[in-house]
Amino acid sequence: MTVFLQATVPADLARAVELLRGGGLVAVPTETVYGLAADIANPDAVGRIFSAKQRPPGHPLIVHIHANSELQHWAAEVPAAAWRLAEAFWPGPLTLLLNKSAAVPDVVTGGLPTVGLRCPDHPVLAQVLAKLGSAVAAPSANLHKQLSPTTAQQVLSTLDGRIDAVLDGGPCRVGLESTIVDLTGPMPRILRSGPITREQLEAVLQTPVEQPQRHETAVPGNMAEHYRPQAPLYSVPRTALQATLQRLGPARCAVLLHGVLPPVAALDTLKGTNAVRVLPADKAGYARELYGALHDLDLQHPACIVIETPPQDADWLDVNDRLARATTLVPR
Ligand code: TXA
Ligand code: MG
Repeated sequence: MTVFLQATVPADLARAVELLRGGGLVAVPTETVYGLAADIANPDAVGRIFSAKQRPPGHPLIVHIHANSELQHWAAEVPAAAWRLAEAFWPGPLTLLLNKSAAVPDVVTGGLPTVGLRCPDHPVLAQVLAKLGSAVAAPSANLHKQLSPTTAQQVLSTLDGRIDAVLDGGPCRVGLESTIVDLTGPMPRILRSGPITREQLEAVLQTPVEQPQRHETAVPGNMAEHYRPQAPLYSVPRTALQATLQRLGPARCAVLLHGVLPPVAALDTLKGTNAVRVLPADKAGYARELYGALHDLDLQHPACIVIETPPQDADWLDVNDRLARATTLVPR
C-alpha cells in the first residue's frame, strides 16, 4: 500500500520523515521532477529503490543535501569550482559530480568512485531534509526508462503499491531533470544537459565548460532510450505534420504542438485526431509542461503521439536531449 501524504498537513510531513527514518521509500517533490527518496544512511533502503523502480543495479543515484556546507561531508575533496557553482545555483536544478567521500555507501554510486550531489530548491523537500537530519538518495520517481513524474498523481501511475508513500507538494516548477556537471576531470563537463545552461556555468566559472553534442558516456540514464511514454512518440516538423497525420491515420494519433495552433488548413487534419495539446511557446513553460502533457496524452491510449519538433536553439538543448531519447522514427 502506498500512502498519499499532503505536504501542507504537518502530520503528513512528519509521517514522511518517520517513514524515511525507518528505512522506507517516499516519493518527494523537487523543483525539477519528483524523486524517489531513501535515507542515504540506510543502504538497505537505498537498495530497495532499485527494485521499486526496476532499475538495473549499478546505476548511480543523486544525493540530495540540505545545505551547501554538506558538500565537504559527502565529497572527498571540494574544488573551488564546486563551491562557486553551489554558491551561484543552489538550491537549484544543478547536480555536481565529485569524488565521493567514505561517508557515501557504495550502493548509492553503483560502486563508482564519484557521487552526484544536489541541493534541491523545494520548500517541502528542504523541510524533510532538515527534520531527517540526513541526506536522501533519490532518482526520478518513475519506473525505469519511463517518463519522469512532475505531479504526485503521475508518481502513483507507475509506482503505486511499490513504494511506502508519496508526499504531494504540487506540480514541479521546472519540469525537466537537473543539469549534471562533472568536476572530476581536467575541465568541467556537462554529463546531462538541463535547466542550467553551459553559458550560465561558464559565466560563473570564467572557464570553458565541455558539452558533448551527444552524451556518449556509458552513464546509465544517458542511454539512448529513456523518458518514454507508453505510446511511440514521433517528432515531426510543423511543415510535415499534416502529411504525417494523414499517413498514420489521424484517429490513431494524439498530437502535441508547440506554442500556437497551426493554420486553419491543418486544423482540419487535427480534428479527427485522438487528442491535441498545445505547450507554451517559451522554453521554461514548455519544459514545465512537457512530461505532464505526454503523460496525459498517454492516458488516452493513442496508437502513437506526434509531437511538433520544438525549436533547436541552444537554450532548448535539454528539451531536445530528452526528446531524442523519448522519440522513435516515424514508420515509413
Ligand atoms: O533533477 C534531477 O536530477 C532529478 C531529481 C529527483 O533530483 N533526479 C534524477 O535522477 O533525474 P535520475 O536517477 O533519474 O538521473 C540521475 C542521473 C543518471 O543518469 C545517473 O546515471 C547520473 O545522474 N549519475 C548519478 N550519479 C552519477 C555518478 N556518480 N556518475 C555518473 N553519473 C551519475
Ligand atoms: Mg530518471
